[in-house]
Amino acid sequence: MRIAITGALGQLGRSLQDALQGHEFFLVDLPEDDVTEPATIAAIADFEPHVVIHTAAMTDVDGCEIAPDGAYKVNALGTRNVALACQRCDAPMLYISTDYVFDGTSEEPYLEYDEPNPISVYARSKLAGEEFVRDLLNRFYIVRTAWLYGHTGNNFVKNILELVEEEDELSVVANEFGSPTYAPDLAEAIARLIQQPLYGIYHLVNEGSCSRYELAAKILELAGMGDFPLHPTEIYARSAKVPRRAVLRNFCAATQLGITLRPWDEALRAYFVEREHAGHR
Ligand SMILES: NC(=O)c1ccc[n+]([C@@H]2O[C@H](COP(=O)([O-])OP(=O)(O)OC[C@H]3O[C@@H](n4cnc5c(N)ncnc54)[C@H](OP(=O)(O)O)[C@@H]3O)[C@@H](O)[C@H]2O)c1
Repeated sequence: MRIAITGALGQLGRSLQDALQGHEFFLVDLPEDDVTEPATIAAIADFEPHVVIHTAAMTDVDGCEIAPDGAYKVNALGTRNVALACQRCDAPMLYISTDYVFDGTSEEPYLEYDEPNPISVYARSKLAGEEFVRDLLNRFYIVRTAWLYGHTGNNFVKNILELVEEEDELSVVANEFGSPTYAPDLAEAIARLIQQPLYGIYHLVNEGSCSRYELAAKILELAGMGDFPLHPTEIYARSAKVPRRAVLRNFCAATQLGITLRPWDEALRAYFVEREHAGHR
């Protein structure tokens, strides 16, 4: 297949290239290719892809709060542009969205059918992207995921591993819950999903959920630093509001396609094994 991937240099973009090896790629990322530019859209359409996977986004949640115009430009209008490219070349689009479209006030995990209620600029701009995809295309997958980490880029797992090198103790929030998701696992699931013309909204996350504090404790345990002083905290000083409990439930892919991701703690263990093999990337 010919596959266009936006955000190709991001953590998910790189994992997708690994999971989809053997296919022909058209890779889009800054600084050469900007999804907000019409020329990029023309280039995607000219490639005549069989599917376009759109991961590019302004992902700095606090940064979006500070620069909302930039967030809407990339996450909403950039997504509209990619959808228009798909229209032009009649390709289905897979758009990566987020758990943050939900407000996180439900005690129950969110299903694909639950009503979004975003509470930050980042989340509103990503939901606006979803709306463009739904309005402009008949053939699309919207894949919501959460708490992504991989071997490249900026993520919570790497941040904790860096902080323990610099600090004598750490405090991590215990009142924010989510579904940590290993980018290579998500990429494998996406590789299976795009083989099926079952379009719609999907929640793809590693199974289960935990608090940021529980995740940090597991990271330290697997890094062989289980005795590092780690304290739970409720204090939450940041620019953006984040959902307290935006746990996603994978109902559609599991029920219709048998696509599930392994439990989050197994995936985290695999991350450490692979990190060890790669000599601490
Ligand atoms: N990370 C998470 O925890 C998380 C959770 C839920 C959903 N998601 C969604 O998952 C997707 C992938 O996330 P990720 O963690 O892989 O993100 P990432 O590592 O930040 O990668 C995003 C990539 O998109 C690029 N990009 C930004 N603006 C662009 C533009 N205008 N044109 C072309 N490329 C652009 C970025 O380049 P620069 O680095 O140069 O800006 C970066 O290489 C995103 O859509 C995100 O909203 C992420």
